[in-house]
Amino acid sequence: MYRENVLDHYRSPRNKGTLAKPDIKRVGQNPLCGDEIEVTIKLDGKRIKDVKFKGSGCAISQASASMLTEDIKGKPIGDIKKMERDDVVELLGVPISATRMKCAMLALVVVKHGIMSYEGANVPKTTTEDTPGEGA
Ligand code: FES
Repeated sequence: MYRENVLDHYRSPRNKGTLAKPDIKRVGQNPLCGDEIEVTIKLDGKRIKDVKFKGSGCAISQASASMLTEDIKGKPIGDIKKMERDDVVELLGVPISATRMKCAMLALVVVKHGIMSYEGANVPKTTTEDTPGEGA
């Protein structure tokens, strides 16, 4: 059903866990299923120094969190704020249906909201209703 790469990240997630004393800590939910992901980030100036995630969800949500955390390590937060769903689909390398898009986007939405709130924006709640590229 899924490509081997997605299953590999699902079975052996990279960057799973929680960072001690993170600069950014954010939790978000996929309201369709109630699944939740927490992301912790350490910054080095305006760059992601380290990032970890924990939580539960389907293969797509866990694999995309694993792939995203690998991808954003070392990147400037300005670049991450510009990431959209096409970037996540490209990372996953499989076609994503409209329903599964919320699963795929969960980690990115959490990371982006974490950055926004670190920068002083008021983001009271994080859910995939705010999926980038869907008018939010
Ligand atoms: Fe819950 Fe995919 S079914 S995140």
